[in-house]
Amino acid sequence: WRPDDDDDQQRRGAAGPVKVRVPAKINLHLGVGPVRPDGYHELTTVYHAISSYDELTARRGDTLTLTMAGEGTGELALDESNLVIRAARALAAYAGVPAHARLHLRKQIPLAGGLAGGSADAAATLVACDTLWGTNLSREELAAIAAGLGSDVPFLLHGGTALGTGRGEAVSPVLARPTTWHWVVAAADGGLSTPAVYRELDRLRAERDAPAPLGSPDSLLAALRQRDPKVLAAALGNDMQIAALSLRPSLAATLAAGEAAGALASIVSGSGPTCVFLAADEGHAGRIAAELASSSVCRTAYPAYGPVPGARVV
Ligand code: C5P
Repeated sequence: WRPDDDDDQQRRGAAGPVKVRVPAKINLHLGVGPVRPDGYHELTTVYHAISSYDELTARRGDTLTLTMAGEGTGELALDESNLVIRAARALAAYAGVPAHARLHLRKQIPLAGGLAGGSADAAATLVACDTLWGTNLSREELAAIAAGLGSDVPFLLHGGTALGTGRGEAVSPVLARPTTWHWVVAAADGGLSTPAVYRELDRLRAERDAPAPLGSPDSLLAALRQRDPKVLAAALGNDMQIAALSLRPSLAATLAAGEAAGALASIVSGSGPTCVFLAADEGHAGRIAAELASSSVCRTAYPAYGPVPGARVV
């Protein structure tokens, strides 16, 4: 970028605000392997994007600023450590443009909840700034920048249902018959640190206090090809659940309350503490959510469906 390119840059891209909506993710299968030399765990996971959204709006500005509203306001640092700011800077550096934007984040996805909210916001920022700045990168280029920001970020560009390997950043879509699955999301008070949950899993495994790691995701992938939620319920699995329960024993009551309310399956989402429940249909999800929301086993509960697309301009 050279100063005389500035006018050109202003002519490219969007003059008005760019609004991007991005979903939360859950993991239908989360198989955690051994720690790699780089400190990450080898994963085999099936990601699933659900209809619980954050929204990022990008406007032209003379510097880079971030404001927010909703979940986590006052708790989430809005400085250079924020994944939104890091994503904007990473895109600007890659594309060779100034990182000038006024960003506003409207959060609905809980912080540190196991729903990849921070990663979702990073993905939304890449899509919003790419449009605002007119840099028009390919999906592959955006995915490569996304992988540098966090293991879940490439999936949140993508959305839908997808297989994740490596440390989670290598994503390939799962071809399944178009079926909508109905879930209930139960958010907890307070978050769990993802690295802490991974460390707890390593500790439990070293002490032989953890069940055998999940095998291949084949039965889950086969279940997705059928339309029976009972079959899907039996195939869900999360190696991190035991570690999340160890750090937050009260989640056992949340999981049990979902089953008592009639859910077909109850699982911890990712590294937790959010729990998700599979319902038979939309009405069933609404009833389970109402029952959990009026109980004391979670902070809030709401229905959601999936799969939905990843970060998109709306
Ligand atoms: O990739 P991301 O920055 O989202 O990961 C956050 C942390 O979670 C990592 O620093 C690491 O401690 C842990 N992690 C891991 N193995 C993975 C993904 C994440 O140990 N595959």
